[in-house]
Amino acid sequence: MAKKAKTTKVAGGRPGPPKRESVEAVELLSKFAATMAHEIRNPLATIFSALSQVRKHGQVVGDSATLLNIAEEEALRLNRMVAGLLEFARPRPPKLRGGRPLEAVSDAVNAFRRQECLPEDLDLAVEGGGEQLLAWLDADHIQRALQHLLDNAVHAPGPGPRRVRARVLAHEGPPQKVIVEVEDDGAGIPRDFMDRVFDPFFSSKPSGIGLGLPVVRRIAEDHGGRVEIDSVPGKGTRVRIFLEPAPGREGQEPVLKKKEKEAKEPRS
Ligand SMILES: Nc1ncnc2c1ncn2[C@@H]1O[C@H](COP(=O)(O)OP(=O)(O)OP(=O)(O)O)[C@@H](O)[C@H]1O
Ligand SMILES: [Mg+2]
Repeated sequence: MAKKAKTTKVAGGRPGPPKRESVEAVELLSKFAATMAHEIRNPLATIFSALSQVRKHGQVVGDSATLLNIAEEEALRLNRMVAGLLEFARPRPPKLRGGRPLEAVSDAVNAFRRQECLPEDLDLAVEGGGEQLLAWLDADHIQRALQHLLDNAVHAPGPGPRRVRARVLAHEGPPQKVIVEVEDDGAGIPRDFMDRVFDPFFSSKPSGIGLGLPVVRRIAEDHGGRVEIDSVPGKGTRVRIFLEPAPGREGQEPVLKKKEKEAKEPRS
């Protein structure tokens, strides 16, 4: 992405342990999201079953077929929303270990290539460099965040073919950090949207749920890190997750300072 044009920047999350009030607000929102998801899941299963019975037993043609397709598409969309809500509700806190972010990036890109129905002309690659860098991370959670970033990058608006790069690099600081980033050459994020992209349910896509970036921010915050987005309209978008370095500590757990421990422990 060229950086000389007007770049808009937005940050999500903040370094260090989150404040207690914000932890409580997020916990409340998470509980609400989980309750909603569970409430929707049962009737949705009934709807899926009813739709499949209709397909099996009746000859569905003409307008009825169109209506049935619409009903199925909307049910699938609701299903994605339920999955998004459950993910947003954070089923488990991360287990931080000293690990290699580049491995998480490569695994995420490989998994993304397998799972998604990708455009044929997509140029998606992990860039070299960052092999030696270690950070405190939960590889599963970082991979999940990367899946969301890759999905956004690959499906960014703008004329194709799309070029997407994922990489890991050192941020010399101070303070020193390890950066995991995804960059695309799409149309960028319109200036008016920038302040809203981390809001739950904000989406500019017709079938978007708007939970991808909130989940990425949640994951970054759970790692004591933050997310930064730089976007140049017409040139592309770069999303960076800043992680804490864990030099020489592969496989080890972080030793938390007393204050951080207190912040992590739920109040009784
Ligand atoms: N790489 C990108 N390029 C352009 N716009 C982006 C990019 N990443 C995010 N956005 C904007 O931010 C919005 C919010 O992204 P987010 O991932 O939270 O939700 P979504 O992609 O719309 O839906 P979903 O929940 O399915 O991920 C997007 O709808 C889009 O407007
Ligand atoms: Mg998304």
